Amino acid sequence: MCGIVGYVGSEKCQDIVIGALERLEYRGYDSAGIASIDEEGLHLCRAVGKLAELKAKIKKMPIPGNTGIGHIRWATHGGVTEHNAHPHYATDEVVIVHNGIIENYAELKADLIEKGVVFTSDTDSEVLAHLFSHFIKKGLPPVAILQEVISKIEGAYAFTALSKSYPDTLMAARNASPLAIGLSDNMAVVASDALAIAHLTRHVIYLKDNDYAIITSKGCTIYDSNNEIANREIVQVKASPVLLDKAGFRHYMEKEIHEQPDAISHTISAMSDTTGRLTAGLDISSLSSIKGIVLLAAGTSFYAAQIGRYWIEKLAGIPVVCEIASEYHYRQPVASCQSTAIVISQSGESIDSLLAMRYAKKLGLDTFGIVNVVDSTIAREADKILPTRAGPEIGVASTKAFTAQLVVLFCLAIALGKQNGHISASRADELHHQLLKMPGAVGKSMELFDSIRPIAHKLKNASSCLFLGRDILYPLACEGALKLKELSYIHAEGFASGEMKHGPIALLQDGLPIVSFVSDDDMARKAVSNLKEADARGGHIIVVGTQSALNLLDFAAEKITIPECEPLLTPIVGAIPAQILAYLTAFEKGTDIDQPRNLAKSVTVE
Ligand code: F6R
Repeated sequence: MCGIVGYVGSEKCQDIVIGALERLEYRGYDSAGIASIDEEGLHLCRAVGKLAELKAKIKKMPIPGNTGIGHIRWATHGGVTEHNAHPHYATDEVVIVHNGIIENYAELKADLIEKGVVFTSDTDSEVLAHLFSHFIKKGLPPVAILQEVISKIEGAYAFTALSKSYPDTLMAARNASPLAIGLSDNMAVVASDALAIAHLTRHVIYLKDNDYAIITSKGCTIYDSNNEIANREIVQVKASPVLLDKAGFRHYMEKEIHEQPDAISHTISAMSDTTGRLTAGLDISSLSSIKGIVLLAAGTSFYAAQIGRYWIEKLAGIPVVCEIASEYHYRQPVASCQSTAIVISQSGESIDSLLAMRYAKKLGLDTFGIVNVVDSTIAREADKILPTRAGPEIGVASTKAFTAQLVVLFCLAIALGKQNGHISASRADELHHQLLKMPGAVGKSMELFDSIRPIAHKLKNASSCLFLGRDILYPLACEGALKLKELSYIHAEGFASGEMKHGPIALLQDGLPIVSFVSDDDMARKAVSNLKEADARGGHIIVVGTQSALNLLDFAAEKITIPECEPLLTPIVGAIPAQILAYLTAFEKGTDIDQPRNLAKSVTVE
């Protein structure tokens, strides 16, 4: 992960670099740093902790100069300490910021140490600073220096370097990690994410893999992997550059939970044509070419994929497999039954999902991206985008992007089923009609904050918690468990209810909280039997379902009643109490809700 920034121009760099880092804090937040250059030489300031710590430091000792770089860190190699924070330096000659992992750093480091280099950090990134220094000392020009450095390193990287020998120049490169260059009059700026610099300029160039660039205030020259000058298109950033506030909520997550009715209705609109007809944003030929699907995603997006699989198979009769993105391409999957890979990613930058999509492309599959960030790498590289219109999601734990992903998948399932005749036109219209009720049902679910608060109050003392569900509610159970563990740090696992008796039931002991999702369909009675088994063994049963489903569960210790809805859509409405339970439990425990420990919003390392 990590976020990097560079600025060269006519203005003082400090506030510009910090402003961009503020917009990149979702990429990591365990330490931050800034470096600059002026006529006196290099200046450097680094601090452990969130960006606020760095800001406090530079308030006392401002960073001068018009050329600077900055970094926000999510530790990979080396602990969270000031000497491991970026920028890294080599003597007083060069400073670098890096996102990614230099996979051959150990060999490079050993080689440099043999040449007499002294390392001051435990990171992989520091080798970059010393490689730069080595080639600068040889008197090479910036282009040749970059070529030499890149030829030595392996792995994923986006980096920017600043040298005393070339004080008005940023040297940058990317491979697998994102990097955007923003251009405007008398200035250029680079960042891991175009949105972080969109308040400075809307004109952006996205570097492609293995590109490198020489950047000055007058513009930039980009080279491709053949060392040829590459003409990369300048694109207009579409997304809003506003630095979002919490609009009176205590946390971004709380705000984003409340934004779901809008996120869902905007996403339904994006899936419909101008007459309101559900097309999933695809024409007939695109829909009819989909014969078999592989859904690729990570984390919460993977659970959305699993729910989507149930819908697409039930409503369209098209075979679907779900693959954890980080496993997919290493497994060498056989894709002969598939025509289409659909990658689901809120950020559109998860490296696992991106690499899985590239692999699927290599296998000859059409690639679709269900993405929330429309300027992201996955959005740009997919053959087609089915956008979630959730708006920027800042809280690290995904909420509104998840329900918006579900909406896209449900729309796709209906559109496919209607197109291939698996469901009748009237059934498709009925389901569409039921989907249109989701913003209202989800809005009503916000009332659950009050009834869930006492449950969260008790849950905060638990050391472990199980989540159960059957059929389309099984992946929701896994998502509920993920939300609880990442926010409250309580150990939580999701299981298919029917699977309990095959092993997990051994975990049951008096008072173990078991959160179970129950839908009002023919699965309900089976789920009830599974819960009775857990109840008989002392489990503290917390059930989530519509009133009609909960009527079967009078033995449950706690009941969370969600608005009545089409049973197939229970995962969307049921996601809200799962999010609220995790949010309120974390709130009771006093954990860092928007930036939980060890996590980052966009996971750009393998
Ligand atoms: C959990 C969460 C993560 C992400 C995962 C994939 O709340 O947000 O599990 O879902 O890192 O991220 P994207 O969807 O951006 O590819």
